[in-house]
Parts: sequence; C-alpha cells; structure tokens
Amino acid sequence: MKIIDQLDISGKKVLVRVDYNVPLKDGEVADDTRLRATLPTLRYALEKGARLILASHLGRPKGQKVPELSLAPVAKRLSSLLGREVKFAPDCVGEEVEALAKGLQEGEVLLLENLRFHPGETKNDPEFARALARLAEVYVNDAFAVCHRAHASVVGVVEHVPVCGAGFLLAREVKYLSNLLESPQRPVALVIGGAKVSTKIGVLKNLLSRIDKLLIGGAMANTFLVAEGFGVGASFYEEEFVEEAKVILDAAAEKVVKVYLPVDVLVARDKEAEEGKNTCIFEVPEGKAIFDIGKETRKLFAAALQNMGTIVWNGPLGLFENPAFAKGTTRVARAAAATNAVTIGGGGDTLRALKNAGVKRAFSYLSTGGGAFLEFLEGKELPGIAALRQKA
Ligand code: 3PG
Repeated sequence: MKIIDQLDISGKKVLVRVDYNVPLKDGEVADDTRLRATLPTLRYALEKGARLILASHLGRPKGQKVPELSLAPVAKRLSSLLGREVKFAPDCVGEEVEALAKGLQEGEVLLLENLRFHPGETKNDPEFARALARLAEVYVNDAFAVCHRAHASVVGVVEHVPVCGAGFLLAREVKYLSNLLESPQRPVALVIGGAKVSTKIGVLKNLLSRIDKLLIGGAMANTFLVAEGFGVGASFYEEEFVEEAKVILDAAAEKVVKVYLPVDVLVARDKEAEEGKNTCIFEVPEGKAIFDIGKETRKLFAAALQNMGTIVWNGPLGLFENPAFAKGTTRVARAAAATNAVTIGGGGDTLRALKNAGVKRAFSYLSTGGGAFLEFLEGKELPGIAALRQKA
C-alpha cells in the first residue's frame, strides 16, 4: 500500500476519502475525534500545495437526501480545526461539483455532501465510482473506519483514479493493528465487553491463539455465565450463543488462556435504576438484571491487568451510560491505563466508554474504527485496504 508521502500531490486535485461519520447535536458536531484524526494528512497535503476534495458519508440515509444528515456542520467545524475556509459542495458528484473541484486553488479545501445520498455509493456502482474519480487526479483513503465496506468511494473509485494511496491515519491504524496481530508485546490481555457475544465471536476466535488472558464483562458476560451454569435472573443474554460460548471457553482452556468472568455483579430492576445492589454471582435474584461488574470483580480484573505487555480493550464492562453502572468500566480502564502495557482500544461504544472513564489520552492507541476495528481483529482483509494494496 502506498502512503501519501510517496505520491506526487503538489498542485494536484486530491480526493481524500475521510470518515466524518460523527455524532451531531443541535446541528453541530458533538464529537470531532474523527475530524482531528485526519488533520495530519490534510495539513501535509495542504503544505504540498494540493487542492483538497474531501468525501465522507454520515449515517445511513439509504440513497436519499436526508437534510439532517448533511455534512454542512462538519465543514464548519473542520474549518475551525484547520484554521482555513472549508468550502462545502451541495452534492458529491455532477457538473456543479466538478466545476467547484476544478476551480480550487492550491491549498484550498472542498468538502463534498454526504456520499450516501446517492444509492451508488453503498452499491459500489461503477458509474458512481467513475463520477467521483472525475473530480481528482489522486485518490487518498484516510478512512480506516469505513474500510470494511466495499463501497464506491472506498473500493470502486480506486480503479478509476491513476494514482492512489493511504493517508497517515489509515497507515497508522494498519501498522498498530497488524503489529497487534503479528508480533504483540506479550503477555497480552483482551478485555472484552458490550452487549452481544454474537458480534464478537470472530474476534474472540481469531485472538485466542494470540492472547494470554481474557477478561469478559458487559452483558455478553451473561451468556458465558449461563454457559458455565450460573443463573443470571432477568439479565439479557443470548440463548442461541450459549453453546458457542462453551466452545470458546473450551478453546481458551486448550490454549492455556486464563479466562476471567465476573465473580460479583451490580443488579437492579431496570437500567434506569439509581443504584445497583452488589451481588455474588451465585445469588442473582430471579426478577433482577445484571448491569455492571461488582466490587470484587473490579479488583480482580484490575489485578489481572498488572504486568501485561499489551492490553486490548473492546466494549464497556457495564451499562456505563447510567453513572450507577459505570464503575466497572471506569475502575478497570483506569487500572489498564496506569500500567506500562501498550494499551489499545477500539470498536463501537468503546471510545465513548473510555472517554467517560477519563482515560482516552492515557491509552497508547485508540482506533477510529468501530466495525472496521473488529473485522481487522477477526483477521479479515478489509476491502478498502485490499483495493489500495492491489493498486500498488
Ligand atoms: C462507522 O462509524 O463505524 C463507520 O463510519 C461505518 O459506518 P456504517 O456502519 O454505517 O457503514
């Protein structure tokens, strides 16, 4: 895969695929992490005198123009982050957009409207890919978080632009995560949480032979607890994955991976409860549900993370959105951050949970990917990365 600093971009029109799929609140960007993550690539390109055309999706408008999913607020925020004007195109393809792209001077930036307002984007339609390609002479993918989607702006477009490469963010994500899979600093602990085992099975299977400890929390721990014969009261668990959980536990034993499951939990009648009752795992009452790991488990998990070479974190350990159930994630995340291990987090809610725990900056590396992070760790080759590799 070529990297942007190996491409001749001076004075060129460069189409950069970014992932600005960010939360909006009252018409403003509520979290600009993904915008900031692309700044090194954008600043480098601007210093080289490139004419930047930025393309992204936002949400899932299903090929329709949905005004609430316009990228206009993103242009505004990016403009203040870059300290220069970011022009905004009313669409992402077509004559008007081509004219805007053509009119760009060196060092100017144009953000296109949401790619997914066109059905051709998610269908990887060749016509739509060609229309995007017409805008530029160079294509740079700096959108790791969408590399698991074989969409036109991620895959199709690569065929039609003569010069293609990866931005610094994409290159960095691939470097960190490949290193994690190929030659991690041992011993390795995987902390995994979130609601469902079903979405994490691929990751668990692929990582089992690369880790030394597996700490399971969140509602997915309930499925493992049921597999171990514990009652989980009214807690959410995936009955159809209990057998799969057993298979994972057996495989872990075979590979001598030490598995940590909650020994106590916080239970309540519902997720809005103001507090949970600390309960031993043998005594979860019928009518109550588990919403966080308990006090002893926090200590157990924190102690298990000492003296690790690498700690990988995916998924919250409790329902952290309710402060009554955030202690598990917070306490264990802080313990992870305080170690000397390489700490890597990513996927879905994880960044929000780690931010909430106040450790976002203390982690060695936080991936910008949700689904892409998980698929990478499953060992899958992501279509966006494969397309760039083939091109190179
Ligand atoms: C993400 O937020 O994980 C990416 O932007 C991909 O979004 P998608 O799941 O809607 O394709």
